[in-house]
Amino acid sequence: MAILPILEVPDPRLRRISAPVEAMTDEIRTLIADMFEAMYAAPGIGLAAAQVDVPLRLLVMDLVDGPPDASGKGTRNPRVFINPEILDPSEERSVYNEGCLSVPDQYAEVERPAVIRARWRDQDWVEHEQLLDGLLATCLQHEMDHLNGVLFIDHLSRLKRDMLLKKLAKARADSGRKARAA
Ligand code: NI
Repeated sequence: MAILPILEVPDPRLRRISAPVEAMTDEIRTLIADMFEAMYAAPGIGLAAAQVDVPLRLLVMDLVDGPPDASGKGTRNPRVFINPEILDPSEERSVYNEGCLSVPDQYAEVERPAVIRARWRDQDWVEHEQLLDGLLATCLQHEMDHLNGVLFIDHLSRLKRDMLLKKLAKARADSGRKARAA
């Protein structure tokens, strides 16, 4: 099957509010597998269903950096979050240089709560509740924003956001020129 295309700004479909997943079905299992394929191919560390045009509260993540090792195993840590919720974000904040597959090759520092208690279901429909920090807490908050139609650029000042979108437009124009020249 072809790899699922990832929606990019300013696609209005990225702004929809995603609906809860009602139950684990074969369709959802297939969607999860297809989302991992699209995320690894991009490559990226997180992907929300909304980004592949499926407005459901479901996201996949793998924070392990780099390609699989020679044995083809051991370096990946795929995680699935279904209907995730944040229960109590910390006052303490942390800053990460964030990027997003829907805002290709653009990065900016975003400040978010450093520690969160999160609740979600996994691919076996088992409920989890856990205290998360570090990159995992940041990435989950970034991906959960997608479920509410929010992008990381929305957390920036208007000036920074406009600069970043201008850089993206220029990169797209340059790659269009290169494609035509080839
Ligand atoms: Ni994103």
